[in-house]
Amino acid sequence: MIFVTRREIFSSSHRIYNPNFSENENERIFGKCSNPNGHGHNYTLEVTVAGEVDPKTGYVIDLKLLKEIIIENVIQKVDHKNLNLDVDFLKGKIPTSENICVGIWNQLIDKIPSGKLYSIKLYETENNYVEYKGKE
Ligand code: NI
Repeated sequence: MIFVTRREIFSSSHRIYNPNFSENENERIFGKCSNPNGHGHNYTLEVTVAGEVDPKTGYVIDLKLLKEIIIENVIQKVDHKNLNLDVDFLKGKIPTSENICVGIWNQLIDKIPSGKLYSIKLYETENNYVEYKGKE
């Protein structure tokens, strides 16, 4: 099994809060992440596809094609957007890295033409990342 990864970056704003909590509860649980006017991150996304090498092409998946699929289905929807308001696949979700990561997986799972989607890694900062490999 070979693993092929494409990295993309995007910039988004968000506010981490639960609309069912009071302002005080949101502040207690989420701290400055729940500041009312939001804040931004430069996210790094890594999409990994696993598979066998196709002897005709030498590829698991053409990385140029993988890049285009990620841009069309993810980056165009999230880059320079407000993740609380603007992104169809995050509607009704608290835009934590966990929820964004699962949302991106769901955007891509049926769009990969060769190999299989193996993991989505989402870095919110250099030191914090979340990884999703689908339902066990
Ligand atoms: Ni944040």
